[in-house]
Amino acid sequence: MKIKRIIVAGSTGSIGSSTIDVIRKNPDLFKIAGLSCNTNWQKMFVQADEFLPEAVAVSVGFENDGVNSHKFLKQESRNYTFKDNIKIYVGTNALVDMVRETKADLVVNGVSGVSGLLVSFWTLMSGKDLALANKESIVMAGELLLDMAKKKEREILPIDSEHSAVFNLMRILDRSSIDEIVLTASGGALRDYTAEQLNNVTVADALRHPTWKMGKKITIDSASMANKGLEVIEANKLFSFSPEKLKVVIHPQSIVHSLIRTKDGMLYGQIGKPDMRLPIQNALTYPEIRDTGFSRLLLDDVTLEFRKIDFQKYRMLSLAYSVIEEGGVLPIVYNAANEVAVSMFIEEKIKFVDIPDVVEQCLSKNWQGKALSIEDIMDVDLRARKISEEYIR
Ligand SMILES: NC(=O)c1ccc[n+]([C@@H]2O[C@H](COP(=O)([O-])OP(=O)(O)OC[C@H]3O[C@@H](n4cnc5c(N)ncnc54)[C@H](OP(=O)(O)O)[C@@H]3O)[C@@H](O)[C@H]2O)c1
Repeated sequence: MKIKRIIVAGSTGSIGSSTIDVIRKNPDLFKIAGLSCNTNWQKMFVQADEFLPEAVAVSVGFENDGVNSHKFLKQESRNYTFKDNIKIYVGTNALVDMVRETKADLVVNGVSGVSGLLVSFWTLMSGKDLALANKESIVMAGELLLDMAKKKEREILPIDSEHSAVFNLMRILDRSSIDEIVLTASGGALRDYTAEQLNNVTVADALRHPTWKMGKKITIDSASMANKGLEVIEANKLFSFSPEKLKVVIHPQSIVHSLIRTKDGMLYGQIGKPDMRLPIQNALTYPEIRDTGFSRLLLDDVTLEFRKIDFQKYRMLSLAYSVIEEGGVLPIVYNAANEVAVSMFIEEKIKFVDIPDVVEQCLSKNWQGKALSIEDIMDVDLRARKISEEYIR
């Protein structure tokens, strides 16, 4: 395999750090071309010192004792071995500019939330493959991104473990033989809570994920099943399966990453450790499948359990199905309202059980029409955020 030049967008986060691990283990396969963070430039500079990329990006500009952030970061860089040799981008457009201007084969999009959308868009626009963890991109702009990938003859390689599993199973099974996709869900931190207990959930409770170690937003989404809701929408767009052919099942061990049922009723699954480095390595080495040195799941003492979903308990999941049924701009609204509700829950302004109320209220407004461009999509996103914020106030 020719050495791949990789930009890690969101390198300081959970997906970013796992990507760095994969690259660190395989210096003969990958070279880091760019790194990025929102504010955590200290962590990113340590990464830059180790991998010496061409460029780094910090999305939030700041003033430090009257010195602007670019000048400040330039001065700080002299304390590192890379000194002045790395191009530093700072400010709102920093990450997109870096993605557009830096020579690379592939961008890992590990940015959280709506800010990842422009990263996905400009990755493909600038002719690079997209290894996608930021599911919000596909939820908001699936059609547009898939069209763009086709036009530019670039790949969208899912990193979400469920979609990576389905993507790989679909490389083996003939599409015409597939009946349905079964996405597995750990059930998140609150899987065994009763409806009554859910009323009193704290932020710390919702952040205690049993199997995956992830960023805050996605961990709360796992507890409410909004994450699975976003993933069902993502699967609908990525793989073109209708909602009746997209099933979800609770699988507490997070070892079966997803399954495909063929028309003869048989189930085929992808089984492995719950470790995001595995789907990441899979996307980075695509189309090859390689041993990149991570430990394997041993089947000596493994129990697999599956449980039916309780749609009344997980309202965010049933809302996601209705969003797919109704289509139009509703996936954008679902994502935006959920992001607002989750940040309000983290700030302790609403209760955990209020999250689906906020989203349902916002979805019930008059959302006619289509969003065909990035500008239209961002406009719907902004309107949905305002409506959700007003509802919470
Ligand atoms: N974590 C997982 O296991 C996992 C699994 C599947 C899918 N995903 C998806 O992957 C994405 C990232 O999740 P995560 O858990 O890695 O999140 P995370 O740990 O919170 O990391 C987010 C990264 O994005 C950066 N960032 C945040 N806001 C930004 C903005 N406005 N502009 C530019 N950069 C920004 C952060 O920088 P700072 O460090 O400076 O804040 C950080 O590098 C999400 O879409 C999530 O749904 C994650």
